[in-house]
Amino acid sequence: MGQSATARAHTNIALIKYWGKKDANLIIPQNSSLSLTLDHFYTDTTVTFSETLTRDQIIFNGQEADEQTQTKMSQFLDLIRQQAGRSTFASVETTNHVPNAAGLASSASGYAALAAAGSRAAGLDLNRRDLSRLARRGSGSATRSIYGGFVEWQRGRNDQDSYAIPVQEEIDWDIQMIAIVLNDRKKRVASRAGMASVVATSPYYPSWVETAQADLPKMKDAIIKKDINLVGQLAEKSAMQMHATTLSAVPPFTYFEPETLQAIEVVERLRQQGVSCYYTMDAGPNVKVICTSRETPQILAALAPYFTAEQLLVAKPGPGVTSL
Ligand code: DP6
Repeated sequence: MGQSATARAHTNIALIKYWGKKDANLIIPQNSSLSLTLDHFYTDTTVTFSETLTRDQIIFNGQEADEQTQTKMSQFLDLIRQQAGRSTFASVETTNHVPNAAGLASSASGYAALAAAGSRAAGLDLNRRDLSRLARRGSGSATRSIYGGFVEWQRGRNDQDSYAIPVQEEIDWDIQMIAIVLNDRKKRVASRAGMASVVATSPYYPSWVETAQADLPKMKDAIIKKDINLVGQLAEKSAMQMHATTLSAVPPFTYFEPETLQAIEVVERLRQQGVSCYYTMDAGPNVKVICTSRETPQILAALAPYFTAEQLLVAKPGPGVTSL
């Protein structure tokens, strides 16, 4: 007889970035990070353990997943089987409501949803801390998608103490993001490989860790004060310092593309005109604008000459992982 569970997790965008691992197997990060979970972009996953299966079956957006995804997700299911003391295979059906190529970190919502659905289907009743630790083993950014709103991933030192905590789950002030989807070309360097190279070769890496650790409490302060300008300034600084480590890696690489600079230029121009807007970027060319809903129409209008309406996705703060 099969045991089945379904969960929904939303993606998150880091304001203080996670960039670099101390332990690649356990996914223990070099620095703590802080993110905002978003409402529009989420993953629904159903996991069913069944005695009749002879291997894990992974269906990704209606199609059998590629070899690499199969292996990664199967290894993740092994962690759940280990914890639950069972050996049956599972079928996994996952639907991504995150534009895959949008650089909106679909691995974050993906592994958070898989952790929640898989553990419950296996009969485990994990609290959110343990769910966060489990999600971490799939993808670092998934650690934070267990919670809604502003979330801190405390780096910790080992598997036990590296997990996320909520900073502000219910956000009663005006903050949102506009994701500018520049192109759907595949990433040139995956985030996993990119951060590994940077840790190993960038002479600036130690100061990245130092600055991220120092800026995180400042970001929490800015959130408590509901200060959009300070949140934006710190987020921009974190993103650009992260990207500086890629240029200083050996060999150097970058996630910037011509359209990235175009988007940044629009944000900077608006700011000179007194509009509170800031940008952040992850391991891809897309730009996310941090702003208030009040100023969003003006920002969208300024971006319109350069990007189509389909390229501009507005997202508000979203909730943590839920069972469906
Ligand atoms: C730039 O979580 O995708 O988005 O742990 O190797 O799966 P792995 O990496 P991943 O890296 C995300 C990096 C980032 C910054 C962030 O989300 O904090």
